[in-house]
Amino acid sequence: MNKFNISNKRLVSHIAKSFEISLGDIKKIIKNFHSEMLKGLSGHKSSLAMIPSFVDMPKGNETGKYIALDLGGTNFRILEVELKAGGRIDVIAEDKFKLEKEIVTGTGRQMFDFIAESIKYFLHVHKMSLSGEIDLGFTFSFPLNQTSIAGGILLFWNKGFSASNVIGKDVVALLNAALKRQGIDNIKIAALVNDTVGTLIAKAYGDSYCDLGVIFGTGTNACYPEKISKIKKARGLKTSTGYMVINTEWGNFNKLNCTSCDTKIDKASSNPGRQRLEKMVSGMYLGEIARTIIIDLVERKILFNGNIPSVFSKPYGFDTKYLSEIESDNSKNLMIVKNLLIRLGIANAGYTDSRLIRNISKIVVMRSAYISAAVMAAVILWMDPKIKRIHTIAIDGSLFEKCLSYQGHIKSVFQKFFKDKADKINFVLAKDGSGKGAAIIAAVASRL
Ligand code: BGC
Repeated sequence: MNKFNISNKRLVSHIAKSFEISLGDIKKIIKNFHSEMLKGLSGHKSSLAMIPSFVDMPKGNETGKYIALDLGGTNFRILEVELKAGGRIDVIAEDKFKLEKEIVTGTGRQMFDFIAESIKYFLHVHKMSLSGEIDLGFTFSFPLNQTSIAGGILLFWNKGFSASNVIGKDVVALLNAALKRQGIDNIKIAALVNDTVGTLIAKAYGDSYCDLGVIFGTGTNACYPEKISKIKKARGLKTSTGYMVINTEWGNFNKLNCTSCDTKIDKASSNPGRQRLEKMVSGMYLGEIARTIIIDLVERKILFNGNIPSVFSKPYGFDTKYLSEIESDNSKNLMIVKNLLIRLGIANAGYTDSRLIRNISKIVVMRSAYISAAVMAAVILWMDPKIKRIHTIAIDGSLFEKCLSYQGHIKSVFQKFFKDKADKINFVLAKDGSGKGAAIIAAVASRL
């Protein structure tokens, strides 16, 4: 039997407390977020890069067939998309390719060659012509210094990518060169797009209230349309409406209260000091946060009789998908938790172990959702301080889609925070928006 005495209880409730986000904390996050947004837009040092995307909101009348390439996580996708105006988008063909660790941590040339080979395969399998120009929208979900609608220099890698010789280079030029090496010369990369921008544009194509695009997946980020006159750091930007979508890169926001566990994870990561919000919120890290707490409790002999089960022994070995499954178990006998622990090779977990694992999972997921709600509220308030308008937030990403309690937590924060105005803010799952949005942006860019 595990010892679970009063002092252990105190320790566990101390951990829970350090992960709590109060309404006061949310107000503080919003205030700091606004000040970082302002600095980022003015070109002063800020944890928010606030990158102009060279994209304006869609008109909804864009039509035609386009290819979209969606790169930003461990899988990348190629789609052939037909835009039919008024929100109607057909995906004609779609293939998913796995980017193995050796590829994303090898040389940039190898990685772009692999992508170009996959495009060649896609064109062949779906019998697309190798002559006649095809416009491609390239979703590239890493921080870029965007130089034009179809150009951008990689600032740094994250989410476990480290391919060499890419940082500081124009990723469109690298992809063009790789396409050439494959003998493909009829693809025009018409647009380079962040996944949040694609998600926003894809939803806004059929919903004119949509003004926030968000990803809660392996990584996290958001974008929104900003008045060009407020983007003080970039002179001479022009769009027909006077607005341009800004990619906030909020994953790097660093004005949050961190626990010792967050500090540990940051220090051991491939990008210490960066992406501090992402490391507390996104799917890549939640399992690791829970694992770090669990290891601490095992070492104190509070969990698993002091023996570390192998699933918890390796960094990043405890996937966030398990966390979502465990935290959804509200039953008395914790059968979901028990069965999952058995599947993970832990046959002898007691009730106390299961309950603690479930509670840790809940704490970690809840903090992530509360921070997410706070930063979404911050951007909405930035655009519309008195919440006079209706807002649709388009959200994509496996964490938001698959973690069942996530949406409920966000809703409850919005209700507590916005009170009777909460009804004006709707958030919706905008699945696969990033690829579709890239096609719409390619359509606008090729029209220009
Ligand atoms: C990247 C963003 C991206 C987000 C979601 C972050 O790690 O820096 O550019 O939008 O992940 O994929």
